[in-house]
Amino acid sequence: MKHLEEYVISIPDFPEPGIIFRDVTGILQDPDGLQLAVNQLQDFLKDTEFDVVVGPESRGFIFGVPVAYNLKKSFVPVRKKGKLPRKTISESYALEYGSAEIEIHEDAIKPGQKVVIIDDLMATGGTTEAIIRLISRLGGEVVKACFVMELAGLNGREKLKGCPVDSAIIYE
Ligand code: PRP
Ligand code: ADE
Repeated sequence: MKHLEEYVISIPDFPEPGIIFRDVTGILQDPDGLQLAVNQLQDFLKDTEFDVVVGPESRGFIFGVPVAYNLKKSFVPVRKKGKLPRKTISESYALEYGSAEIEIHEDAIKPGQKVVIIDDLMATGGTTEAIIRLISRLGGEVVKACFVMELAGLNGREKLKGCPVDSAIIYE
């Protein structure tokens, strides 16, 4: 079986000049790649006690749900602005390219719940930092963030104020 990083397709200058896009679809379209990625994320959590997996739209859904299902936890989606139908709270943040606003249902996390964030990739850490702010406003606690890929050169970990981070593939 190949190593997980061999399934990632890197595309220079997408979506804009200077960005190397790390395309997760290469992992997903091979059954061995998908198994490796989900199993690795679950392995990162084997010593972590938590109640809820939170995953951001859209690539965080792909990995967050199978991990939550396999570990018998609930899954809470964080969505881009205007998509969730009930009462929400929101946060704005900057990305490697562009900016965004994300929302969570205000009843989705109960005070005291322990949360794990799962996403395909951490770049600047802006998305994860904004999720940590959302969870904290609802009285929850983010105990860990797990990624398939991390762009370490963008220093995302520094933004996360001591939140433990594990990534299956680290690009320097
Ligand atoms: C990508 C990726 C992460 C985020 C990482 O999502 O899936 O969620 O960017 O960037 P950051 O660490 O700089 O915040 P994107 O917002 O592009 O949405 P998508 O999953 O719908 O493509
Ligand atoms: N999201 C933010 N930066 C990215 C990158 N370089 N590749 C894939 N997804 C990303």
